[in-house]
Amino acid sequence: MVGSMDTITSVREMIEWSRFQISCRKDTGFVPTMGYLHDGHLSLVNRARSENDSVVVSVFVNPTQFGPNEDLSVYPRDPDGDSAKLEAAGIDVLFVPEAGELYSPSHETFVELERLSRHLCGKSRPLHFRGVATIVLKLFNIVLPTNAYFGSKDYQQLQVIKNMVRDLNVNTMVIGCPTIREHDGLAMSSRNSYLSPDQRKQAICLYDALMIARRLFAAREPDPNAYLQAMKSRVLSEPDALPDYISLVHPETLENLTTVNYNALAVMAVRIGKTRLIDNMLLAEPASRNQ
Ligand code: PAJ
Repeated sequence: MVGSMDTITSVREMIEWSRFQISCRKDTGFVPTMGYLHDGHLSLVNRARSENDSVVVSVFVNPTQFGPNEDLSVYPRDPDGDSAKLEAAGIDVLFVPEAGELYSPSHETFVELERLSRHLCGKSRPLHFRGVATIVLKLFNIVLPTNAYFGSKDYQQLQVIKNMVRDLNVNTMVIGCPTIREHDGLAMSSRNSYLSPDQRKQAICLYDALMIARRLFAAREPDPNAYLQAMKSRVLSEPDALPDYISLVHPETLENLTTVNYNALAVMAVRIGKTRLIDNMLLAEPASRNQ
């Protein structure tokens, strides 16, 4: 029922709510976010709504996943807008914990994936996935979700969470959801708000490069380098675009492919000016704006 959303800020109160749900044998769907919500986030919320008795969304800009020179202090925030969108989406609980309550001054325990977090984004953001895995496990321990929903836009993050849940026997099902895109194909992201109008036009090079890779795959190009060169040259055709990485990888191990097969995932991180954007696509999936 729309209009009955509770906002909880205390960890203790959230745990009590979660335990009560379990005692009533109700399934809880959980969508962790950092706020500044857009239709990509809301697609996860709607999926959670359709598959569970109750839905919890967290909004928490997690300091441990930002590097020292990253955008923690300027990360976009819109608490009132987020709350209105989630209330309209019919969720049950908006969980907005305080950083001071989640991370005590003596916090010293982190979750680290030895292999997966070293590839791709892990190369330029070495502590990022340690921060993500740690906060997600903490949130799972508080919300005790039956199902948790993550976007494929952050593909490496989704794999990190899936592997963490497998390795640590976490009693939550991790569900990956499609990437929601703007009308021209740019993957929705809270960070798109950093782009100037001109950079916003240039940012389409990520989607274009992925579509170039798809067309090469449809033409049965076997050589990974042909893909990488074509994608890179499309990205570099924009004056403010600088690739961090462009790779063809195995969708589970995220290791580079030496031959292109039906499983190949094209994945990239590109700086447009100071804004770092990521995107990915399975080459064999049917082309559509919502992947
Ligand atoms: P955030 O960037 O706010 O994203 C929250 C969730 O929304 C993630 O699962 C992300 O993959 C998903 N998402 C973002 N853009 C999307 C899009 N265009 N289409 C579909 N889903 C999209 O990811 C995080 O926050 C944090 O790392 C978090 C998991 C909350 C841990 O702090």
